Amino acid sequence: MNKFYLGGLLSLLFLFACPVYALEEGTLFLTPTHGDDGTAWGQKQCDGCHLINRIHQQRGRSIQTIVRRKSYESCAGCHGSNGTDLKKLCLLCHNGQDLPISPTMTGTENHNFTVGQVNGLSDEQCISCHKSSNMNGQFELNIDLTAFPNASERDEEYVRITDFCLRCHNLDHQQAGFEILNKNFRDPLIAMEKNYNFLDMHGYPKGSGQRTYFGLVPNYRYASVVECTDCHAMHGTHNPKLIIDSASKGATQLADPTNYSVKVINGDYSQLCVLCHRMQNPVEDARLDTGNGLSGVHLTGADEDCRQCHTHGRAVQVGL
Ligand code: HEC
Ligand code: HEC
Ligand code: HEC
Ligand code: HEC
Ligand code: HEC
Ligand code: HEC
Ligand code: HEC
Ligand code: HEC
Repeated sequence: MNKFYLGGLLSLLFLFACPVYALEEGTLFLTPTHGDDGTAWGQKQCDGCHLINRIHQQRGRSIQTIVRRKSYESCAGCHGSNGTDLKKLCLLCHNGQDLPISPTMTGTENHNFTVGQVNGLSDEQCISCHKSSNMNGQFELNIDLTAFPNASERDEEYVRITDFCLRCHNLDHQQAGFEILNKNFRDPLIAMEKNYNFLDMHGYPKGSGQRTYFGLVPNYRYASVVECTDCHAMHGTHNPKLIIDSASKGATQLADPTNYSVKVINGDYSQLCVLCHRMQNPVEDARLDTGNGLSGVHLTGADEDCRQCHTHGRAVQVGL
């Protein structure tokens, strides 16, 4: 047997042993091997070869039903552009009618990457944060969030959602295309990495639960950390600075499932704080309703500006 023949036999075996993968490893995106010998790469008409009633048989009904309803316009949103200029649409499905709580987008404020600009999120902005979601109904940090490199330019996995935020909200290793320019070094937009790791009450774990106003609701504990997204909503809220406008948009560890509302009036953040903080030995305003049915923080009311003492990056006694 000559060696060329052997080589041919081996590669034939190899072909049978390995299925042809048209999807990028770990994602739903099509690659240049799509279709027999890649002949389907670069084609826009998915309906030419795939019957919508035949696909997705192995997946739960959730995507099967919605894909049938949205038809071929939806394909690129999950499988990528297939080497064409097909647009990846997200809002086609992720909107108040079709998937109203996945995510909840009510409210005029959202993380549209520009402070002070009020407009709805665009498909491109969804993709900035969710480059290659697998849309399996489960939120997985290292699949569903875009992998931004860390300070050493490496794709280190996220351990918590906050790691994702801090890959951009820092002083000296911001992401290309998302630079945050011309800010004072104390502005939380760029100071949050330092704040969170060294100064903030909700970052570096340091609380003792021994102070005058102590008291946390079940599932939140002293000497633990709180995620940015427990207080800030990415997809939509009525409050400034992306503060959640209802418990359901953040405060993920709450044992009480009641959906309390949160309204920030001037600098009065008491409706936010009281979701987690309930004073055990009530003093000062601790018995006053903050306005959402809950009481238990030492100050509340439209004439109280918490920011005098509680802001990000404050090193002394109080802070945030
Ligand atoms: C010319 C015919 C043809 C066209 C047009 C075509 N496909 Fe395919 N597609 C195939 C064939 C054949 C396969 C199975 C072989 C393979 O996996 O590459 C396939 C496989 C796939 C797979 C499964 C890949 C895997 O590895 O499991 C997906 C997803 C897919 N196509 C999506 C699309 C989308 C989206 C479009 C439109 C942008 C499209 N196809 C257009 C022929 C086509
Ligand atoms: C909501 C996301 C989503 C959309 C939109 C979507 N798909 Fe899929 N598709 C998937 C997932 C998830 C799989 C399973 C992939 C896997 O198992 O690795 C899949 C698998 C496939 C497969 C492989 C075999 C099969 O039938 O399961 C084909 C072909 C396919 N899709 C074509 C399409 C076409 C054509 C469209 C547009 C009509 C489309 N998909 C829209 C998520 C989607
Ligand atoms: C600034 C980054 C960012 C942008 C922009 C963004 N997201 Fe998210 N998304 C997140 C983070 C972080 C989470 C997980 C924590 C959370 O929801 O608070 C998440 C969670 C989700 C979830 C699952 C959890 C849930 O609330 O159901 C869906 C679905 C989702 N996003 C879709 C979208 C869509 C669609 C868009 C565009 C309209 C979008 N996201 C824009 C960062 C972002
Ligand atoms: C055909 C409809 C459809 C399109 C188009 C679509 N999605 Fe989804 N997506 C879904 C469904 C259905 C789920 C699962 C929701 C659930 O079960 O809560 C989902 C879930 C998600 C999640 C939550 C994490 C997960 O794995 O379930 C994120 C993030 C997400 N989609 C982002 C996007 C982005 C970004 C785009 C655009 C590039 C997009 N989706 C396009 C239907 C779609
Ligand atoms: C890809 C980079 C990037 C990521 C990731 C990111 N941000 Fe941002 N964020 C920005 C940019 C850029 C701005 C706008 C800065 C400006 O306008 O000067 C911004 C603005 C903000 C604002 C101010 C919004 C306003 O309207 O006042 C908050 C709050 C915020 N981000 C919190 C977060 C949180 C929390 C996370 C993680 C869940 C996060 N960001 C993830 C880049 C990012
Ligand atoms: C999502 C839940 C949650 C929300 C909302 C919240 N906190 Fe906290 N807070 C905590 C947890 C948990 C700790 C304990 C952190 C630690 O020990 O390191 C804490 C600690 C603190 C501390 C330090 C207490 C100590 O013993 O050292 C202060 C001060 C504080 N929070 C103020 C606030 C203010 C002001 C608000 C509203 C603007 C607020 N918190 C909103 C959960 C929350
Ligand atoms: C306990 C709740 C809480 C947590 C946790 C939290 N924040 Fe904040 N954040 C606030 C409050 C309240 C303000 C408004 C303070 C003010 O007005 O000065 C704020 C303000 C900001 C601002 C300023 C926005 C602007 O437009 O000026 C940014 C940026 C920000 N936070 C980012 C983050 C990031 C990133 C994280 C996580 C690393 C985080 N925050 C964690 C409550 C929180
Ligand atoms: C004049 C400064 C000042 C102002 C204004 C202020 N606080 Fe405080 N706050 C403090 C001090 C000091 C502590 C820590 C006292 C202690 O527990 O020993 C504290 C602690 C807290 C805690 C953490 C309690 C704990 O230990 O778990 C919460 C929650 C809180 N304040 C909410 C608010 C709210 C809501 C407002 C605005 C309505 C506000 N504060 C305004 C000084 C202030």
